Amino acid sequence: MASIAIVNHKGGCGKTTTAINLAAAYARQRRKVLVIDMDPQGHVSMGLNIDSKKLPYTIYDVLSPVKKNPGFKKAIVRITPFLDLIPANVKLSALEQQLSGTSGRDSILRDILNPFLTKYDFIFIDCPPNLGLLSINAIMAVDNILIPVESSKYCLEGVSDLTATLEMIDKKAGHKPRRFIFNTLAQEKSDYESKVVKNLKKKYGKAYLKTRIRESVRIKEASFLGKPIVYMDLKDNGAVDYYTLSEILGKKLGFTPITRINQIKGAVKVKPLAEEKILKIVKKPKMTKTMVRKVAKPAKTTKKKTILSPISIRKKTAVKAKQRVLKAA
Ligand SMILES: Nc1ncnc2c1ncn2[C@@H]1O[C@H](COP(=O)(O)OP(=O)(O)O)[C@@H](O)[C@H]1O
Ligand SMILES: [Mg+2]
Repeated sequence: MASIAIVNHKGGCGKTTTAINLAAAYARQRRKVLVIDMDPQGHVSMGLNIDSKKLPYTIYDVLSPVKKNPGFKKAIVRITPFLDLIPANVKLSALEQQLSGTSGRDSILRDILNPFLTKYDFIFIDCPPNLGLLSINAIMAVDNILIPVESSKYCLEGVSDLTATLEMIDKKAGHKPRRFIFNTLAQEKSDYESKVVKNLKKKYGKAYLKTRIRESVRIKEASFLGKPIVYMDLKDNGAVDYYTLSEILGKKLGFTPITRINQIKGAVKVKPLAEEKILKIVKKPKMTKTMVRKVAKPAKTTKKKTILSPISIRKKTAVKAKQRVLKAA
């Protein structure tokens, strides 16, 4: 089992996209995966097509001291037979204040998650864009931290602040998760990009994963549609890159690579999982009003005789007209 928090307190550097797509990539390889949304913005839930505002329980209900805990299981939403989600919504933002002054507030998630660790191969936690109590709970609950970095100054500075927080957690609680860092939203290779990568390699050594997630419009599109790119378009650079990342990270975490996934001519080939029904992600398209009307009443074929009518109709009309003329005569 591997538990992984995806952290970087800079927003927009690909945390949520990574949580969704790595989780989905492993789930498609028949690994049992749980994703926990620890961001009150609820983006993981949205990205998996779940409307967390309508759900009876979210991670907030499980963690809040002012709520009767419904139990972790009740908050689980099954996305596919291999992929579970604990969703979040804006209510989670109240938690930090509710927990202030409470002892053991840094490790509430860890204590609750503990009995479920053996039920999954991978547990991903998507963190909010700050290093507050929610992120600290996520870090305390896991054995691994995955840090996506985009090659911007702010994002790279975010990593230095995170290092300081990790040191503080180690000093205070003796908890030192393994760190992995990788490059996301990568642009076409340029001198600047190569310099950033060289620096990251130098600074983080083995923790730097030698791969990168390229920028892809289809990833943005997938997030709008509430589908992981690894379900939507296996030929897209984004899907190829997330599968590659899943392989590299999997190896580091001691998982044997799954041979079903081969990169063939740049596209990922995954044997179709016949028994894997994509439950929530791929919904049947809704029937629009016009579609319903068409199904109910098939359109009448009006054989209007115009110059544009098929020749057979025009011929018949001409014959009938000729007969009428003959009769009249
Ligand atoms: N590789 C990528 N290519 C193109 N757009 C991306 C990529 N990764 C993320 N995005 C987009 O960038 C935005 C921020 O990504 P997100 O994963 O939400 O970041 P974070 O969770 O760190 O705030 C989203 O609109 C997402 O669709
Ligand atoms: Mg996010």
